[in-house]
Amino acid sequence: MPLTNKEQTLIEDNLNAEYLCIRKYEQYAAMASDQNIKQVFTDLANKETQHANTLKGILNQNGVNPQNIFETYDKPQGDLSNIQNSLGITDAQLLNDALSTEKHVSSSYNNAVLESVDPNIRKQLQHIQQEEQGHAETLFNAMQSRGWYKVQ
Ligand SMILES: [Fe+2]
Ligand SMILES: [Fe+2]
Repeated sequence: MPLTNKEQTLIEDNLNAEYLCIRKYEQYAAMASDQNIKQVFTDLANKETQHANTLKGILNQNGVNPQNIFETYDKPQGDLSNIQNSLGITDAQLLNDALSTEKHVSSSYNNAVLESVDPNIRKQLQHIQQEEQGHAETLFNAMQSRGWYKVQ
């Protein structure tokens, strides 16, 4: 059974979000000052790359070859933490922005799961969504352990 239009559109939307996450986290890994935070972003970028590959695989198996202008770009090289100051950016801001991104991505996967017709695709999307929630937890923990996230 081919993908429904809705399945295809939602998977393509999520693939777009994954490409943006990969870029953002590679750029944040370069920009962050704290070595542990750099590592958090590097790990996340790798996970998002796996997600993107899964989604691309689903689309390809269904005869769809997605074109996305954010798929490839020149990765930042080396340590760029020296530009943080001139931009007024802090590690706390990078983490908070990433956490906000993960919340958005998780709910975007929620829509895709709920609109899935194919049970196998639904399962794969559920698995990714669970991992996105894990990413949010990792980012939350990184913030909370440094006193950057006040729970109410
Ligand atoms: Fe992802
Ligand atoms: Fe994520």
